[in-house]
Amino acid sequence: MGQTNQDNRIIIFDTTLRDGEQSPGASMNKAEKLRIATQLEKLGVDVIEAGFPAASDDDFLAVKTIAETLKDTQVAALCRTAESDINRGWEAIKNAAHPRIHTFLATSDLHMEYKLKMNQEQVIEQTIKSVRQAASFTDNVEFSAEDGSRSDPDFLCKVFEAAIDAGATTINLPDTVGYAIPAEFSELVTYVMKNTPNMDKAIFSVHCHNDLGLATSNTLSAIAAGARQVEVTINGIGERAGNTSLEEIVMTLATRPNFFPQTCAIDTTKLYPASRLVSMITGIIVQPNRAIVGANAFAHEAGIHQDGILKNPMTYEIMKPETIGLSKNNLVLGKHSGKHALKNHVEEMGYTLSDEELKVVFEKFKRLADKKKTIMDEDIEALVNEGVLRSSDVFSLEYINVVCGNTIYPTASIEININNRPVKGATDGNGPIDAVFNAISNITGTKSELLRFSINALTSGTDAQGEVTVRLQEDGIIALGRGADPDIITASALAYINGLNRLEYLKENPVIKVESI
Ligand code: KIV
Ligand code: ZN
Repeated sequence: MGQTNQDNRIIIFDTTLRDGEQSPGASMNKAEKLRIATQLEKLGVDVIEAGFPAASDDDFLAVKTIAETLKDTQVAALCRTAESDINRGWEAIKNAAHPRIHTFLATSDLHMEYKLKMNQEQVIEQTIKSVRQAASFTDNVEFSAEDGSRSDPDFLCKVFEAAIDAGATTINLPDTVGYAIPAEFSELVTYVMKNTPNMDKAIFSVHCHNDLGLATSNTLSAIAAGARQVEVTINGIGERAGNTSLEEIVMTLATRPNFFPQTCAIDTTKLYPASRLVSMITGIIVQPNRAIVGANAFAHEAGIHQDGILKNPMTYEIMKPETIGLSKNNLVLGKHSGKHALKNHVEEMGYTLSDEELKVVFEKFKRLADKKKTIMDEDIEALVNEGVLRSSDVFSLEYINVVCGNTIYPTASIEININNRPVKGATDGNGPIDAVFNAISNITGTKSELLRFSINALTSGTDAQGEVTVRLQEDGIIALGRGADPDIITASALAYINGLNRLEYLKENPVIKVESI
């Protein structure tokens, strides 16, 4: 480490696997989290918050596996300021090459009075006790003042001073509820940095939420005011309206060096693949107009813009698509493409597959190439998602046959493997998709409510694969499901079954939110 707040290097702390997982429906299993963590390490992230080990055995195991796998990136475990949490957190990360304990306690009057039922002295006392405990395990300790942006600034300085004296090497100021305004947040950062006497002994960090759409602006204003660590997530996923998005911060620093002399270690050409991977695994779609990584971020519609771009791309493009890793070569494999060509192309898109995984994707690729003449990046991504990234499934589709038309009542006959045991069923519905979903829910004995259904063509052309996304709810648990196939009824069945698999997983391994324990 050895970095100070005077340096111009920004430490990128990614919390996609912790705060990001608190997005409704964004559950990930251990294998999926490990895949994202590995991608984040390649991206050049400095610290990965891998989870909250005290929340569940599943979270503990995921954090432990990530800690034991990563070589360069620091792995942080989030812990409340409870002795048992910190012990559990350390147990999960103690074998990491670079472990970090991240402990937090609320400091706003509102949280202290109503949630913690503690006064200022008690909060300071507990902060000291838990930071000391964490520091007895490692010299890499972060302390966060939850709801910091709504806390009394002078009290914040006292808590941070106590935390640093007790051994914290990073102190973090969160805008937990996304309430701050950039100018005000910048003033608060400046004030706290100036009035915390031992601030030279710790890195100053910020963690912003996006409830007013200001997370990125607040984080940038904090950087300009002197913060040297930023807590972010890929695609800005996170609790409620999400967190500051990693790609927006990184590309702002890269695009506006005249305003921001600060730099970071992120390899920007891996931003787009990381965004796609997180979207594929969590099932959370990136909105088309999203900055940097949205499908329209580099699409120029107006004729006058297209003309300008042809004459000189800088007329309307402040970043080059290649800079964020948008593949220049969205071609185009076909029936005659071999395994080697597929492997190269998949790697160019940012995925690293084992031989076994490549074999699975290649088989799916061949099957798709029989139905569709040209296979584009979007198709390949869907194949990788279905063949490799999916959680180990309870339910899988074996067979589907649907009869429908304008003079027939739609019926669906389906066979599903339930834990590798085939079960058949047939039923009708208002339309073909209703019939399919009814049949699946009868066969699987599940009672989920369909909250949302959407369908998109993955590429242009009438032979495009349809990509279906569903949002399901059962007993208050929400899960997203995704499926793609040239036949949109099959894509719908695959999405529904994927959602049911995720619900099964969540029933076994509930995502416990930091705020709810
Ligand atoms: O938003 C928040 O305050 C948090 C803390 C746990 C850092 O996520
Ligand atoms: Zn948060």
